[in-house]
Amino acid sequence: MNWKMFLIVTLVLSAFTVTSAIAIEGGNARKGKHLFKKNCKVCHDAGGEGGELTPMSKTMSQWDRYFKKKAKKHPGDVMTKTKKKDLKDINQFLFNSAADSPSPATCG
Ligand code: HEC
Repeated sequence: MNWKMFLIVTLVLSAFTVTSAIAIEGGNARKGKHLFKKNCKVCHDAGGEGGELTPMSKTMSQWDRYFKKKAKKHPGDVMTKTKKKDLKDINQFLFNSAADSPSPATCG
């Protein structure tokens, strides 16, 4: 192929790569698990002030709804102080292991 064709193919391919990178949304559940233990378990362990909370405490849609809407009303400043990206990872971890998920977990 000539260089013009090459240029077009390259442009099309890179455009595709960019859009597919955007299409991958959601957080990193592995990081989220760590972040949940670090940021949430302090209050959400058995006997903690927030009551015990594990991924199985809610369903997938309940977790998503919680992080989308109700997290703003969470007591204290953990939801405003924690980075958005970290909250997304935590949301992903809780979602992936929710009560009605394929692999429910009580946080290891
Ligand atoms: C400083 C202590 C504290 C920390 C840290 C904390 N929470 Fe909470 N959380 C609470 C308290 C207190 C409540 C209110 C409990 C109640 O209403 O019975 C609560 C309530 C909640 C609820 C609602 C519980 C329900 O039954 O619907 C969710 C979900 C929740 N927290 C998630 C989180 C997540 C996720 C994190 C980490 C990003 C976190 N919390 C960090 C104290 C904390």
